[in-house]
Amino acid sequence: MKSESADLSGKTCLVTGASSGIGAATALALGRAGANVVLAARREDACAAVAQAIVAAGGRALVVKTDVGIEAEVRHAVGAAVAHFGRLDAAFNNAGMLGVAAPLHEITTADFDAVLRTNVMSVFWSMKYEIEAMLNTGGGAIVNNASIAAQLGFAGLAPYNASKHAVMGLTRTAALEYFKQGIRINAVCPGPIATPMAETGFGGAENLHAAMAGSPGGRAGQPEEIAQAVLFLLSGAASYISGLGLTVDGGYTVQ
Ligand SMILES: NC(=O)c1ccc[n+]([C@@H]2O[C@H](COP(=O)([O-])OP(=O)(O)OC[C@H]3O[C@@H](n4cnc5c(N)ncnc54)[C@H](OP(=O)(O)O)[C@@H]3O)[C@@H](O)[C@H]2O)c1
Repeated sequence: MKSESADLSGKTCLVTGASSGIGAATALALGRAGANVVLAARREDACAAVAQAIVAAGGRALVVKTDVGIEAEVRHAVGAAVAHFGRLDAAFNNAGMLGVAAPLHEITTADFDAVLRTNVMSVFWSMKYEIEAMLNTGGGAIVNNASIAAQLGFAGLAPYNASKHAVMGLTRTAALEYFKQGIRINAVCPGPIATPMAETGFGGAENLHAAMAGSPGGRAGQPEEIAQAVLFLLSGAASYISGLGLTVDGGYTVQ
């Protein structure tokens, strides 16, 4: 079978958490690669700014205000993508939160629940409605944003760590269920990337950069470096790849 090159022109792609960081960079990269981009997040204005940049680059974009922690809003976002562009070909389920940082015995049930709802239930609901739409049109590709926190333990981040392990589990199982029906499902596992989430997690941008200066890569990753990995996995160039957690971490986890 002939593989296509990494080209997303004319494909309709939904990106959750498109208002900031990795999601915003990926939405823009998809737009520049010729995709119709559906931007979903709670901050409509921030999504609109990214959409404007996509349109300025000659692309097409739709903003759908979405809280991924609410099933009906996720279903609505997928429905809006199909209604506006006629079909859904690809999705990057990226929205997420770090949650409270504390030793496990100090974490409340509400803290834990909030992280699982935003990071795990959102991926379940996103895939559920995206797959339904893709089955109607003969296939597609999905990438979930996991983390190197899906591969290692991280002291002080029990809810986040558990949530990202769950994202990998959902990715692997869904990959098994849908490959024969033309839907590939993968994840990216970024190391520390210079975004508001990581800067907050490290106690400020300076601390993030100081900590990463001593890492194998010598620096934090940039959101655009994750975007390129996502584009590859969503494109026909990755036609035989499914169930993978693609680590993008400048060597952080192989030291
Ligand atoms: N930065 C890193 O070092 C790193 C490493 C590994 C994995 N990741 C993963 O990458 C993803 C994106 O994070 P980021 O680093 O780019 O952080 P970020 O810049 O803080 O962006 C987080 C995004 O998630 C969205 N979001 C959060 N809760 C949401 C909700 N309930 N409904 C809809 N959208 C929601 C935010 O949008 P609104 O606030 O507008 O809703 C925002 O667009 C996360 O899943 C994170 O776990 C990040």
